[in-house]
Amino acid sequence: MHSAKFLAVAAAFFGSAIAKDCDDDIEVKEANPVLSCDTVKGKIIVDDSVAGDLVLEGPEKIEGDIIINNATGIISISSSTIESVEGKFELVGLESLQRIGMNALTSINELEMRKLPALRDLTFGSKGVTEATIVTITDTLIDDLSGLMLDKVESLDINNNKRLTNFESSLVNITEALKINNNGKGMTVNMPSLESAKEIQIANVGSFNVPALETVSASLKLDKCDIKSFRAANLTSIKKALSFINNVQVTNISLPVLKEIGGDLRIVNNTKLTDIGSFPKLESMASINFGGNFKKGELPALEDVPGAAEISTTAKDDDGEEFCSYWDDLGDKIQGGVECTYDNENALEGGDKEGGQNSDGSSNSDDDDAAGMVSVNTALMGLGLLAGIAQLL
Ligand SMILES: *[C@@H]1O[C@H](CO)[C@@H](O)[C@H](O)[C@H]1NC(C)=O
Ligand SMILES: *[C@@H]1O[C@H](CO)[C@@H](O)[C@H](O)[C@H]1NC(C)=O
Ligand SMILES: *[C@@H]1O[C@H](CO)[C@@H](O)[C@H](O)[C@H]1NC(C)=O
Ligand SMILES: *[C@@H]1O[C@H](CO)[C@@H](O)[C@H](O)[C@H]1NC(C)=O
Ligand SMILES: *[C@@H]1O[C@H](CO)[C@@H](O)[C@H](O)[C@H]1NC(C)=O
Repeated sequence: MHSAKFLAVAAAFFGSAIAKDCDDDIEVKEANPVLSCDTVKGKIIVDDSVAGDLVLEGPEKIEGDIIINNATGIISISSSTIESVEGKFELVGLESLQRIGMNALTSINELEMRKLPALRDLTFGSKGVTEATIVTITDTLIDDLSGLMLDKVESLDINNNKRLTNFESSLVNITEALKINNNGKGMTVNMPSLESAKEIQIANVGSFNVPALETVSASLKLDKCDIKSFRAANLTSIKKALSFINNVQVTNISLPVLKEIGGDLRIVNNTKLTDIGSFPKLESMASINFGGNFKKGELPALEDVPGAAEISTTAKDDDGEEFCSYWDDLGDKIQGGVECTYDNENALEGGDKEGGQNSDGSSNSDDDDAAGMVSVNTALMGLGLLAGIAQLL
């Protein structure tokens, strides 16, 4: 009995004594490598000749990177032991890769998954990967990212994953950029806990839900989305630009507590948007650029715009005239000058004043005075734009 106990203790002792670190980089040249260490201090680099089901059993901690590039014959990658990758976990150009099952993995410094055209199935630790610094997932066939249960991330870039139609995340803080672009049609993006982010760029999504978002410390841009409405009920401040461009379905933009925009406020080419939106508390922005089918639009709390306002609408007659006279009347608050044209067939694209009407009823194209006024205002607008660009730097 004593000796049995002794043996068990000795085995435990011996077991931990042989558990060793691997100090060097490991080059993997077969699908079932022997990795007899707990911690890999260097990198694991998988040769591009490896094919089939790659199994990385043994180590728990990888202090360097795991790099798997251009191994076009790999079909699956799995590990039930690896818990953390302190460097980069890079999976690029794996044309046959269908499944990733890293059942113990919870922490990755940098995750890069690119050009994985067959990848459908992604499983991380039972609670998912909760910590990562930089996550890039592009050009895959993934339809589910629920394995990413990130609490914290610096930047998250999810683009061109054509089967991904939903992304849910409980992230609270994105200290660098959130970029979601060109995934599955009508993709819903639901981030109910997100409170702050630096840069947000969203394109080609069907909905973007950020009810708790309070601050954006660079820009917020929504482009080419199919969203019908956008509301950010708690958003008070955007340090750089806010833009809504080419969102063909949007009819309602509502930012009920937004107070300041450090850069340009740009709302252009959103075909169904007839009211610029609801900004009841918005006091300042560097400059303004609105172009669309607007009949209504007001900034009731506006105090100061150091740059210019370049505004155009396709609305004709009384609608157009009233729309523009509101902005012209705000001229004392807009230091770079206001130029508003209505009945402007190029208004949607936010630009060319040719053919439009100024608010005094004169036509831009065939009235010399009006043309002169356009050029003066364009010069001022240059200053306004410069002010806007300065804010972006
Ligand atoms: C992978 O293949 C691409 C295209 O063939 C090539 O540009 C790239 O350098 C390769 N990467 C590595 C790490 O071999
Ligand atoms: C977000 O992270 C930044 C940088 O780490 C920090 O300064 C900020 O307080 C955090 N905000 C929230 C809401 O956690
Ligand atoms: C919005 O902010 C208020 C006040 O800070 C907070 O009580 C509320 O929970 C926030 N709303 C959401 C959806 O987070
Ligand atoms: C826009 O949305 C706000 C809040 O969601 C709502 O109160 C308002 O009625 C909507 N306006 C239109 C024109 O749909
Ligand atoms: C404006 O939107 C239309 C249709 O939505 C699109 O075809 C056009 O390219 C857009 N214009 C610009 C300048 O992006």
